[in-house]
Amino acid sequence: MSDQLYREVILDHYKNPRGHGVIEDADAEAEGFNPLCGDEVSIYVSFADDDETIEDVKFSGRGCAISQAATSMLVDMAKGRKATELAEMPKDELLEEIGIPLSPIRLKCALLGLGVLKIALHRAKGTPLPQEWAGLDELEFK
Ligand code: FES
Repeated sequence: MSDQLYREVILDHYKNPRGHGVIEDADAEAEGFNPLCGDEVSIYVSFADDDETIEDVKFSGRGCAISQAATSMLVDMAKGRKATELAEMPKDELLEEIGIPLSPIRLKCALLGLGVLKIALHRAKGTPLPQEWAGLDELEFK
């Protein structure tokens, strides 16, 4: 795909975010914050009957087009996968989906949602946290 097409896909996710909202009584949840800009993303996960497969993911928060679009893409990628698989998902898999080159500042925007999801899974399932978060320490998670 050309950069232009990637940009259109990003814009579509920003304008029509997949899984925007809150899951009441979520099985896993976390919130993250980018202090560079003040933007926040909360992620809610519910598991299927096997207690491992992600049945539903929703997110709320506010932020720039990249952070919101990347989190929306992540929601699409996460559904139906196992918590352990997502815990191991390299950030490049999401960055490939985004498809356009990102400056270091934009990289933090793009990875905010993924970090929050990994924290939520870590809390609920004890899955390992990414070893590759170097350079992203400015992001804060609660
Ligand atoms: Fe705040 Fe992108 S400018 S997350």
